[in-house]
This record gives sequence, structure tokens and C-alpha cells, in this order.
Amino acid sequence: MKYGYFDNDNREYVITRPDVPAPWTNYLGTEKFCTVISHNAGGYSFYNSPEYNRVTKFRPNASFDRPGHYVYLRDDETGDYWSISWQPVAKSLDEASYEIRHGLSYSKFKCEYNGITASKTLFVPKGEDAEVWDVVIKNDSDKPRTISAFSFVEFSFSHIESDNQNHQMSLYSAGTSYEDGVIECDLYYNTNEFEGFYYLASTFDPDSYDGQRDSFLGLYRDESNPIAVEQGKCSNTAQTCYNHCGSLHKQFVIQPGEEVRFVYILGLGKGNGAKLRAKYQNLENVDAAFAGIKAHWDERCAKFQVKSPNEGLDTMLNTWTLYQAETCVVWSRFASFIEVGGRTGLGYRDTAQDAMAVPHSNPEMTKKRLIDLLRGQVKAGYGLHLFDPDWFDPEKANIEPSKSPTVVPTPSDEDKIHGIEDTCSDDHLWLVPTICRYVMETGETDFFNEIIPFADGGEATVYDHMKAALDFTAEHVGRTGIAKGLRADWNDCLNLGGGESSMVAFLHYWAITEFIDLAKFLGKDEDIARYADMAGGVQNACEKHLWDEDGGWYIRGITKHGDKVGTNEQTEGKVHLESNTWAVVSGAVTQERGEKAMNAVDEYLYSDYGLHLNAPSFATPNDDIGFVTRVYQGVKENGAIFSHPNPWAWVAEAKLGRGDQAMKFYDALNPYNQNDMIEKRITEPYSYVQFIMGRDHQDHGRANHPWLTGTSGWAYIAATNFILGVRLSFDGLIIDPCIPTDWPGFDVTRQWRGATYNINVVNPNHVSKGITSITLNGETVDGAIAPQAEGTINTVTVVMG
Ligand code: NOJ
Repeated sequence: MKYGYFDNDNREYVITRPDVPAPWTNYLGTEKFCTVISHNAGGYSFYNSPEYNRVTKFRPNASFDRPGHYVYLRDDETGDYWSISWQPVAKSLDEASYEIRHGLSYSKFKCEYNGITASKTLFVPKGEDAEVWDVVIKNDSDKPRTISAFSFVEFSFSHIESDNQNHQMSLYSAGTSYEDGVIECDLYYNTNEFEGFYYLASTFDPDSYDGQRDSFLGLYRDESNPIAVEQGKCSNTAQTCYNHCGSLHKQFVIQPGEEVRFVYILGLGKGNGAKLRAKYQNLENVDAAFAGIKAHWDERCAKFQVKSPNEGLDTMLNTWTLYQAETCVVWSRFASFIEVGGRTGLGYRDTAQDAMAVPHSNPEMTKKRLIDLLRGQVKAGYGLHLFDPDWFDPEKANIEPSKSPTVVPTPSDEDKIHGIEDTCSDDHLWLVPTICRYVMETGETDFFNEIIPFADGGEATVYDHMKAALDFTAEHVGRTGIAKGLRADWNDCLNLGGGESSMVAFLHYWAITEFIDLAKFLGKDEDIARYADMAGGVQNACEKHLWDEDGGWYIRGITKHGDKVGTNEQTEGKVHLESNTWAVVSGAVTQERGEKAMNAVDEYLYSDYGLHLNAPSFATPNDDIGFVTRVYQGVKENGAIFSHPNPWAWVAEAKLGRGDQAMKFYDALNPYNQNDMIEKRITEPYSYVQFIMGRDHQDHGRANHPWLTGTSGWAYIAATNFILGVRLSFDGLIIDPCIPTDWPGFDVTRQWRGATYNINVVNPNHVSKGITSITLNGETVDGAIAPQAEGTINTVTVVMG
């Protein structure tokens, strides 16, 4: 079943039936003010931290997505009322039609009902800590209409716990006041005039208002039938205590064919409501702010655009996958309808991998995240999981909590600096390739010499931080010389402790080889020799201990008691995606073994919805292996189609030169391809999800946890850098595609360091891999393309064969 379509010209997903089987969400805000909003306008806003500075309330896990950011309309002649978004009033879809356009950092809601066409566009202007609602109401009937509009948001008590617990305090901690078209909501314990200080303003002069939620909704009612809307006016109540809302009401008389346009503004900071109200009374300012958001994304998307024979791939890479990857870099795993902000801090490995995907589109944020991560690394080389960048930022460290931009408590060193037993074995290793990619993109080689403190004292250059990461893993190996599993590796539920992790061994090998390329680039001869030696040792140990000859694949690890995990003898947890893909991605194994390993992946793990993480699922609890053995079968890390490692298989197949296989795996996971089977998928077709139910679960194919998943970053890297093969090295731009044999070629436009490269790849002999010639502006190129002068537009022609 289909609920909408991709509008590629506008970079929008258009929902034409609002009764989708789950809320389909979008993210508004590119800086610090963020709103997670559904196609029904349900959702919430926060400033910087969804744990500490929530602006509007949300009640997660209800069967619907409430409350939200709503506009109600009322026909004042008949008393009939509806909402511009289908929910919360939910008019029958036989009487009213709805269209929702989720675009990049904006959502447009449109409703046609009873001769009135109304729309509202929600977005967060750049440079503002506020959300603008641009509302248009048009009379399409042939008689004058008297229509009332009411806004509704429920203000938060600021901290997630205050919203969900301890109402004994919360109910007495906030108050609203009203003046000149602005409702302000203030928390009494608030010591600054920004956070915990919210407003809702309108550009019209309201006829009535409500700051008290219960006055607006009425007793024993909810957002679907507010008493104020039913009666046609608010109670003009604003006072301290209880629950608070922002409703501003205005009646309009609209002539046939005419329209009214006005704006609501939701934001933070004392006095800002009045200021922005004045600003946006001039609607040209609204148009300019919206154009600013469009330009923001046009500029980012333009860094890499593809035109290939695969429309789903083009749609995702040109717009949605980059957008999702950027969303993850900015909001990590904090805020969605699944992760509703109950913790603060960024996951170490998640942040390091997310940042790897966007140095071209968002170098500032990539660098910021890298510095955050380097500050969250200890001298011994490992990273602190769930670290909060504020804990390690010297500028913020001595600021009183009340004056801090985010009121985040700073834990004691003992609490934040955990020891080896709590360390993840992969976290720090992701730093190395991400730092390299940032410098390849920007050319900022000085970054390697920047001095950055360690979390537990002392400091080092970025280059030495990288060495500390590699050395830590080299020093923490188990009995066979394979890296220890520690608390977990990439797989949170594989808790091998003193046992050994194949995936980390291969990841280590990859990170070392990336570092050797860097050492060569910087001419660090001693390091080249030392790390080549380290790489050789890791490679030997992997080939000696990790290959399962009987099965013809790489095992997943070894328990602390010496038992192998993932052999042909086993009836559960037999074949694993992470170890087999990383064996190939790392470059540590031979073509022959690599092909066999990936054949096993295809045979045991493939499904029409993507590759399973392991098969068969674990069914017997075994704490030597970890929590994974206690997770329901076919779910999450135990036998689901865990999306994040799927792109590793695309990279692996591309490295093996098997373009048809790479595209088979790409297409299976691509949400675009499931747009007409939503009854199975359930979640949005424009976002990768964390996992899809595996074949050992009765809901096989159902997709769960959209948006905040490392899948997006890796899907972007794998498809752009390895399938299309347009990637950077320290020597320059490399073009080395691995495509399906039926592709006659493709085009990519890549912007790099201020120059544009229009790349045309032709594949006359229908090969998957191999280049016969590359020309740059008509001249033959041998190897990588050196950076061209800023502002130049360059023609690159690549012939495969
Ligand atoms: C989600 C976590 O955010 C990520 O860090 C982890 O790698 C995956 N789950 C797999 O366990």
C-alpha cells in the first residue's frame, strides 16, 4: 500500500493519506532549536538538549503522537471545527483531504475542507531560536466565510523528568502571562531569561488567548475536542501553576477567492516573542527566512549529486540520505519519537561514524564533533561512552550551571572516566579514519598538529591522539592475539569481555592502514615502519584464528573460555555480518576468502528487506557471548536486519569488484523501494531505520526506529565512495566505481575545496569494475586528480572496461 510519493524537484516527500500506520517524522532546525514533528503535527521542540531544555511537551509511546504544534480552524457560522493537520481533530477522510510535505528542515501541512483551503508551513529560521508557523487560509467557496484560527502548543516544564515525573513540583513551577499578542511561559526556579522561558506569539492582534492548558482543552477532553475551539473563544487565562499552553485566537472574515496569511512564532527568551512578532509582521521576512532554509540545503546537497540508472539510489543520495546523516551528526541519538531525550551526551562510536559521512557538506560540525571526541578520549587511548562535550570543554567547565548554555551537571572525574571494564573495544578506532577524511576534504593538515587535552589529564596533538587509539587496541588483545571484546564492540549486545572480537581486529587493521597512508603523506618514516609491523601482526592473527575452514567464513569472536562464536558447527549464531564484512572492508584478507565469506553472507543472511545481522538467531542464553543471547529472536542485535552494518556489505562487495551483488544488497535495504509496501514496512520510506524484524520474528519486514541510526552515514559513504567510487585520498580525488553490469554509466557532480568536478562515467563493455582511462578537461590523468583551482568547473571523463 502507498501513502505518498517522492517529489524530487522540491526535495520533498509528499504524504497524500494521513492515516499512515505510524507517525512519519521530520526534523526542523539546523542549529540549536530543534523540533521533531510528525505528519500529523505531533511532536516537540527543545533547545540544544532534549533532556534539559525542552520547550514543548510530548507524551511518547501513546498510540498517537500528541500533543503537537496545532492550528485549529472553526467555521463561526456553523460551529464546525477542524485542524490543518489531520490529527488531532481527525475529520473523516471522505469529507476532508490532507497533504503533508516533509521537506529539508520544514514541513508543510495542507487541508481542504468545506470550501476552505488552509496550509501551515513550520520551519526554524537560520540564526533564530524559534519556530515559525506560516499560516494561509483561503476561501474557495462562493460566499464570505467567518473563520476563527486557534494555535495550540503545550509548554514543557523544561526537564524531561519534570514533564514525566514529580508533578508535585512541576505543577507549581511554571506560569504564563499575556501581553500584546505574546504568551510567555516562565519557570520560577529559572535563573536566566532564556532557557525555561518560552513564548508563543502571533503576528495578528488576538481576539482571545489561553495560557492554561486545562482552560483551553476543558475537563475530560483532549486535543481532539478543545472546549475553547468548540465555544469559539479562549478563556483569557494566564497565571502561575498547573499545566501551560499557548493558544492565540483570531476571527477572520474572508471573501470568496481571498486568503489571509499570518504567522505564529514559538521560541525562547524573554522579550524575543515581541521582537520576532514585529519582524514577521512583514511577510517578506517570512519568505526570506524560508528561502534561507532552502538555500542552506541546496548548498549542502550540491556537494555531491548523482544521475544514475537507479532512481531510488539517486533520490536517496541526492537528498534523503545526506539529510538523515546530517541529522544524526547534529542530534546524534538524542531526540526522535523513539529516543525522546531521556539522556544527554553523545555515543562515542556513533558520533565518530556519523561525522565520517559529512565532512564535505558540514565541515564545521565534523570538526566540532572530532574535537568533542578527542576531548572525550583518555590518555590510554580509549573513548568515554555517553560522554557529554560540555564536560570536557574548558570554556564551559567553570561556568555555573545556571549560566551555562545547557544546564548540564558536570559529573565527578570518577563518574565520567570509566575504566577498561566499561570500555567499548571499537569506539576510539573510528576516530582515525574520520579525522583522515576531514583533512582530505578540507586540506587542513594543521589539524594534525592541534593540541587537544585528554579527558583524564595531559594533552597531545591530534596525530598523537590517533596513535594512542591504535596503540590501545594493540595492547588489549586476548590469548590468540585478537583484540579483546571488552564491554562490547560495535554490537552493544555482544559482551565478550576478556574474550576476543573479530570485528575489532579487522577494524583495527583498517584504522592502522588508514593511519599508514597518513604517515606516508606526512613523511613520518618511523611511524610507517612501526604501524606496518602492527598491521602485519593483526593480519596474521586474523588469518590464523578467525577463518572457519569448515563453513568458509570468518567467525564473530572467541569467548573468554576459548569457545568460538559463529562456526559451521553451531546451530545458532552461526554466520555474522560484522566479521565477514569487516574482513573484506579492512583489506586484511585474500580475494578468495573474501569472496567465500561474502557468499556466506548472501546465503545465510540475505532477505528482501536487507541483510540479517546473524543467523540463525541465538536461542540459548550464554553470558560468555553476551546480552545478545537474551534478546528476542529476530529482533535488534539478535537476528534482525540491523541496518547499520548493511552498507559494510556494499563496501565489501565493491572492494571485491562484484557490483551486481553490491547493488542487490543496496536495493534490498533502500527504504525508497518499500514505498508501495507500507503495510509491511510501517515506518517512513525516506529514512533508514535502526532495524527491521528478521525472519525469526512473526513481523518479518517491519521497520523500527527511523532517523537516528548510523545507517544513514554509512549508506552515504558506501554508495558514494565505493559503489559510485568517487572518494578522496591524501593524493587527491579518486574515481573507482563498482557498479552493476547493466549500467551503461552514470554522472556525478562533486564540489571539493571550491572547485566543481562534472564526472561522466561510461561503461561500454558493461563491466562492474576497472578503468581504462580518465581525462580531466581533456588531459589524461594517471591516478588521483589533484585539487583544481577554486571556482573552476572541471570536466572529468571516465571510461570503464
Ligand atoms: C545502537 C547504538 O547506538 C550503536 O552504538 C550500536 O553500535 C548499535 N546499536 C548496535 O548495537
